[in-house]
Amino acid sequence: MRFSALAFASVALAARPFINEPDTGIDDQLGSIVANGSLPPLKSLAGLPDFDWAARHYMNLSSYTYYRNGAAGEWSYRNNLEIFQRFRLRPRVMVDITKIEDSFETTLLGHKFSAPFFISPCARAGYAHPEGEVGLVKGAAQGNILYMPSLYSSRNRSDIYAARANTSQVLFQQVYLDDPSINVTAALFKAIEANGAKAIVLTIDSPGDGVRHRAARSGVGSANTGYSLFTWEFYKQLQTLTTLPIIPKGIQTVEDARLAIQNGAPAIFLSNHGGRQLDTSPSALEVALEIFEQDRGIFNETEVYADGGVRYGIDVLKLLALGVKAVGVGRPFMYANTYGAAGVKRAVDMLKYELANDAANLGVGDLKKIGPQFVQWKPSGWWS
Ligand SMILES: Cc1cc2nc3c(=O)[nH]c(=O)nc-3n(C[C@H](O)[C@H](O)[C@H](O)COP(=O)(O)O)c2cc1C
Ligand SMILES: *[C@@H]1O[C@H](CO)[C@@H](O)[C@H](O)[C@H]1NC(C)=O
Ligand SMILES: *[C@@H]1O[C@H](CO)[C@@H](O)[C@H](O)[C@H]1NC(C)=O
Ligand SMILES: *[C@@H]1O[C@H](CO)[C@@H](O)[C@H](O)[C@H]1NC(C)=O
Ligand SMILES: *[C@@H]1O[C@H](CO)[C@@H](O)[C@H](O)[C@H]1NC(C)=O
Ligand SMILES: *[C@@H]1O[C@H](CO)[C@@H](O)[C@H](O)[C@H]1NC(C)=O
Ligand SMILES: *[C@@H]1O[C@H](CO)[C@@H](O)[C@H](O)[C@H]1NC(C)=O
Repeated sequence: MRFSALAFASVALAARPFINEPDTGIDDQLGSIVANGSLPPLKSLAGLPDFDWAARHYMNLSSYTYYRNGAAGEWSYRNNLEIFQRFRLRPRVMVDITKIEDSFETTLLGHKFSAPFFISPCARAGYAHPEGEVGLVKGAAQGNILYMPSLYSSRNRSDIYAARANTSQVLFQQVYLDDPSINVTAALFKAIEANGAKAIVLTIDSPGDGVRHRAARSGVGSANTGYSLFTWEFYKQLQTLTTLPIIPKGIQTVEDARLAIQNGAPAIFLSNHGGRQLDTSPSALEVALEIFEQDRGIFNETEVYADGGVRYGIDVLKLLALGVKAVGVGRPFMYANTYGAAGVKRAVDMLKYELANDAANLGVGDLKKIGPQFVQWKPSGWWS
């Protein structure tokens, strides 16, 4: 558990300080034992937030800062984590939930996975482990979930795609278009097809550089700086360059969700980039709620993915309850990769365990039948 000094000082004014890692007891148990620069035994970790603790002790400051940082005052980063607890659950009892795990299998753009969550694209996996993205590919295979490698990977794409369990392991490739000229982009898309990706994830939430103070201090700013050109007209042109579906990542309003569908998006990805891009942009849960309230048919018209701040089984359930098809997790898997594939696999297992048991306690016997009635969507006061 770590309090920011400023938040701690203002505790009398605020309901309570921001807590980056809610207290799981790990610091009391291991804080004085695990030497800085070393990792606690994998089996001593109890949930996804523990991977943050482990990575913070293990990685050097600049590398940890690259993963951890958010934009500007980090209000979006914090809100992504805190928003989930503002909406109370409405658990139903006396429901047969014994077959809950049978309903985990999920199809994303026609590809089958063992759970409705996936590894979001995050640059520079090599900061956590020398194997870099290879640990994430292998962990995803062992857990049978989707992984979306980032264009700005530490390992090159040949190595990443060669690390697949076999050519049936599905990866969706994230891209930025630093050079938006059509020929360069066409060549990139052809190369990605040749690598064996099954979809392209086009990140559209970062036309400008992310203002990141914490990262600037350590010299580990955004992997894509400068201005990028994104328009729906350009998006339509991109679709003519490849047979792969192109999923826009970084939708943050109901208007843009609708425009994405009108422009032929095969799936849309709600995200504020983990709060790293535009401070005070909304969490994906808030965007999903806005879509639900204003144009809920969208959830039936296209596949909706969402990420940001997901750390517990209940976070996944709240997004699914609104109609989100699959939920992305970024930092926890990057931190878990300090242990390589074994850590990534353990993080997958932890989240599956929580998802199954939280669904059971919520009275959801079939994940496919979860609906908005399981959550009180009027925000309640903060837990204090
Ligand atoms: C270290 C790091 C690097 C990231 N790099 C990328 C990237 O290259 N492309 C991208 O679309 N999103 C990137 N993101 C955003 C993630 O895809 C995802 O939206 C975000 O991490 C989700 O929030 P979470 O970390 O709270 O789960 C990055 C996030 C982190 C933490
Ligand atoms: C690790 O470093 C922190 C900060 O420098 C220090 O407070 C802590 O005591 C160190 N832990 C160990 C086990 O040495
Ligand atoms: C921190 O670790 C990264 C990755 O292992 C390495 O590239 C970098 O040089 C290290 N930085 C410092 C300041 O030690
Ligand atoms: C990818 O990186 C590996 C080293 O990890 C290197 O051997 C290989 O030549 C690289 N491939 C390409 C296409 O750059
Ligand atoms: C490919 O690898 C996955 C993951 O290990 C395995 O489940 C699947 O059966 C394999 N498929 C083929 C066609 O070998
Ligand atoms: C793009 O490619 C086309 C055909 O492959 C070629 O005619 C054209 O000159 C190229 N444009 C640029 C700017 O390189
Ligand atoms: C979406 O589809 C579900 C299941 O077919 C249906 O119950 C629901 O009414 C649809 N919602 C809208 C807004 O079309």
